[in-house]
Amino acid sequence: MKLKNKTVDRLKKNYGNWALVTGATSGIGKAFATKLAESGFNLVITGRREEQLNSLSTEFFDQHKVEAIPIVGDLSQKKAIESLLEETNHLSIGIVILNAGFGTSGEFINSNIQNELNLVDLNCKSVLEMLHHFSNKMKAETRKGAIVLLSSMVAFQGVPNAANYAASKAYIQSLGEGLARELKPLGIDILCAAPGPVKSGFADRANMKMGMSLSPYDVALPIISAIGKKTTLLPGFLTKFLVYNLRLLPRSGKIRVMEKVMSGFTKHQK
Ligand SMILES: NC(=O)c1ccc[n+]([C@@H]2O[C@H](COP(=O)([O-])OP(=O)(O)OC[C@H]3O[C@@H](n4cnc5c(N)ncnc54)[C@H](OP(=O)(O)O)[C@@H]3O)[C@@H](O)[C@H]2O)c1
Repeated sequence: MKLKNKTVDRLKKNYGNWALVTGATSGIGKAFATKLAESGFNLVITGRREEQLNSLSTEFFDQHKVEAIPIVGDLSQKKAIESLLEETNHLSIGIVILNAGFGTSGEFINSNIQNELNLVDLNCKSVLEMLHHFSNKMKAETRKGAIVLLSSMVAFQGVPNAANYAASKAYIQSLGEGLARELKPLGIDILCAAPGPVKSGFADRANMKMGMSLSPYDVALPIISAIGKKTTLLPGFLTKFLVYNLRLLPRSGKIRVMEKVMSGFTKHQK
């Protein structure tokens, strides 16, 4: 399925025709980049895997005649963030999708603390730094800007056996909600997208085995369509179903339900 013409027209009128997607080499980020390229947006695409970025760039040019600038780098490292910001400084990027991120799971007590700290560097610190840079850049430009943050359904309560990942997404959700109101008068639209389980590279890296899950396109399309219209989106039916059911419970009950869910996702680790 493609983005609706009226959505594409609205996005281009408000934000111009350049977008940046971090973590575009797989999963939800690749779906964002593909849908935007198909709709005629020029792109900056990032990730650590150079080959995948180059092949997407060629594919987008051949199939949609759009420019897709690949920028390789590990965004958990300050140097890579700085060079991404420097290399894109001459472009007027109206839509910024800060999607790169990863999860961890299992017993916190036995976790690799360097990996958990790296998660905070990528999921939180890099997002904060890029948000600050792009919101300042957008403020200085005359037309509107939009920044999309990848939160998660795990952001709305603590999650035993994925506590650090859930906390990183709670940080993103809270940051986005606050900044959405603060930056609106400056013409900057913030959207926090909070998907439930999505079939991507995420589960393998997080060492989870998720049951039911959505495809990256099931979530990317509604997220792009909600830019400038909402501040928080639960994309896809499965996400809405899971989060709305949890909403009926007190926070302590939600934590217990998520504990059961995560114990299913990590059963193979025992
Ligand atoms: N899948 C889910 O169930 C789910 C649910 C809710 C929210 N989310 C969030 O959605 C976002 C996208 O995840 P996904 O499901 O699409 O997972 P994915 O398929 O593993 O994609 C993650 C993307 O982030 C990039 N990335 C990972 N580590 C990086 C690093 N250190 N520096 C730069 N780029 C890095 C990866 O590219 P390289 O490997 O090339 O670096 C890849 O393109 C994440 O923020 C995730 O937390 C996922």
